[in-house]
Amino acid sequence: MRTHAELSAGAPLWLLAELTYRCPLQCPYCSNPVDYARHGEELSTEQWRGVLREARALGAAQLGFSGGEPLVRQDLEALVSEARELGFYTNLITSGVGLNEARIAALRDAGLDHIQISLQAADEEVSAAVAGSAKAHGRKLAMARAVKAAGYPMVLNVVLHRHNIDDVDRLIALCDELGADAVELATCQYYGWARLNRDGLLPSREQVARAEAVTQAWRERLAARGREMRLLFVVPDYYAERPKACMGGWGAIFMTVAPDGAVLPCHSARELPMTFPNVRDASLEAIWHRSEAFNRFRGDGWMKAPCRSCDERHQDYGGCRCQAYLLTGDPAAADPVCSKSPEHRRIEEACAEAAHRSPPLEHLTARNSANSRLIWRG
Ligand code: FES
Repeated sequence: MRTHAELSAGAPLWLLAELTYRCPLQCPYCSNPVDYARHGEELSTEQWRGVLREARALGAAQLGFSGGEPLVRQDLEALVSEARELGFYTNLITSGVGLNEARIAALRDAGLDHIQISLQAADEEVSAAVAGSAKAHGRKLAMARAVKAAGYPMVLNVVLHRHNIDDVDRLIALCDELGADAVELATCQYYGWARLNRDGLLPSREQVARAEAVTQAWRERLAARGREMRLLFVVPDYYAERPKACMGGWGAIFMTVAPDGAVLPCHSARELPMTFPNVRDASLEAIWHRSEAFNRFRGDGWMKAPCRSCDERHQDYGGCRCQAYLLTGDPAAADPVCSKSPEHRRIEEACAEAAHRSPPLEHLTARNSANSRLIWRG
């Protein structure tokens, strides 16, 4: 018989298909697992087609193709075509490296609905230092223009950290000049590689406040010009009083399928001390409704104090399980971002340190690169 938590699981509205962990760039905040090269072989085209069919049958409607860099997969167009036939709304989340006009046309013909391109910085120099590629910046700008020329809205995403956040004025000016329709300025989330590099990435509270004020001033200037460019600014949760409702709740609406077929309730879940099921061994229906992994943090029965009796527990679901584990060692603890958490001092200490530390960006790139080589050798 199913438990209450299993019975209360609705449909996985979102499917994130992480097609590959491979990527030509080396960003120090990459969401790939730190040990990504240890995970098994990528799913084949046919296996991915099966995943899409099963997810759609379960009720998933939104589909993100991501990675790594999803364009590395030469079967991306075939998978987009399958998704279109199944009735998904599809989004490609890409660095733009590996894109060209012919591929944009092929993706459009296959039925791709939306493309989001990431930028690292306002100029080539910082971009090269962050991404480990001197050519990437120019390529991204060219592809952003090509995407728009192909009839897609130009949606740009910039991960903000201490090395580029003071440049937010130039970043927004660049997006304006490019003709962007929407820009997401998202401060770094500290999982995976970003957790490893947190001390070198976390901006100070003052940097965040300045960047937010600059963004607001831009919104007003754009409105005065009648220019429609949506600016979204995502504040780091390290500077929030309450945690984010991560993934809309564990196993509530979101499902990630990793390159090797592991099925995860969020893209960082592999960092938790848990075992996750795989599409090679079980159906998505069984995994979503009945697997131990997906039921572990559903509902509120798993919560400890202070979440258990908190009147906000159905708004934030205790925050992020991955962050709770990474900062306290207990995945069932309250997310320490919450000021009610007994471990909240861990966040305060990290923020205080960030206020007077400034490791050079070269160090981040070298460290990232060295780690990548080490991992790839393994
Ligand atoms: Fe895994 Fe928040 S990122 S639960």
